Amino acid sequence: MVTIFVLESIHQSGIDVLRDAGKVENMIGWPRERILAQLHRADAVVCKSVTHVDREFIDAAPRLKLVGRAGTGTDNFDKPYLAQKNIPLLTVPRGNSVSAAEFAVMCILMLAKRAVPAIDAVRAGDFRRDLLEGRELQGLRVGLLGYGNVGRLAAERLRGFGCKVLVHDSVAQKMQEAVAEGATPVASVAELLAASEIVSLHATYNDQSKGIINREILQHARPGLWLVNIARGGLMVDQDVLAALDSGRLAGLAIDTLAPEPPFNAEPGSHGYDHPYLHHPRVVVFPHMAASTDEAQERIAVTLARDMCGLIAGWQEEMAQ
Ligand code: MLT
Repeated sequence: MVTIFVLESIHQSGIDVLRDAGKVENMIGWPRERILAQLHRADAVVCKSVTHVDREFIDAAPRLKLVGRAGTGTDNFDKPYLAQKNIPLLTVPRGNSVSAAEFAVMCILMLAKRAVPAIDAVRAGDFRRDLLEGRELQGLRVGLLGYGNVGRLAAERLRGFGCKVLVHDSVAQKMQEAVAEGATPVASVAELLAASEIVSLHATYNDQSKGIINREILQHARPGLWLVNIARGGLMVDQDVLAALDSGRLAGLAIDTLAPEPPFNAEPGSHGYDHPYLHHPRVVVFPHMAASTDEAQERIAVTLARDMCGLIAGWQEEMAQ
């Protein structure tokens, strides 16, 4: 019987589908060392963004024939080594794009409407609304860095608010799509930061995009720029972003994906995780929850589980011949 390790939480409907294909073992929240010690028994694993499926992980799993990623990003996988070992990596690239795009728009609204300082002020008994004047989205220049699945859906929603959408993507075809859909193309990241009032990051995290928001590029930003990052923390050089927040070059940051990621399964007070953004008055931090909607999680879990079952059935047919 095929043994499938589930290493990060997925929607129950996906687990139910996987049970048709084999024995499902729940190892959610286990420490890495404990998982590594069991991996010799795994034929397939399911994970999300926290598990580092690196060389050490893959070498600890001699039976491993399939990796399922319940989501989009694959920056936590050693893809060349998986390919070398002929282990397919299944993802669900569009499964959470709508949820993520909606979350980006929420962050943009929160920054433009000054929602967090308003909530904090009112909680402290301060009702001086004149100190909290916001901006209308209508006519606001919103820059999107990246026009993939999420950037594109965010643009569609922002157009509904009457925003002027500016786009930079390093892929020419993506730029053409953006233009065809009514966005203003911007030739470089620096120009995007200079021309926008809010910039939302939707780039894939890889060796080329790592630290793309850095000290040099931030010098081009329009003073008082707001930044939204629901993509990956590693797109930004944190100390440079913090310096820009302190100098006023950046007016605020809403971020969903810290680098390194916090311990998502730990009880408050039971861990020593900390990050400078958690203490900055103009930063709003979310726990990598842009994709955490019931709809997206169910869609992703069922799609992934069905795809995994299809591959597993293929192995079983081969073995039966
Ligand atoms: C993704 O890459 O799919 C999202 O960041 C959500 C996740 O990592 O689970």
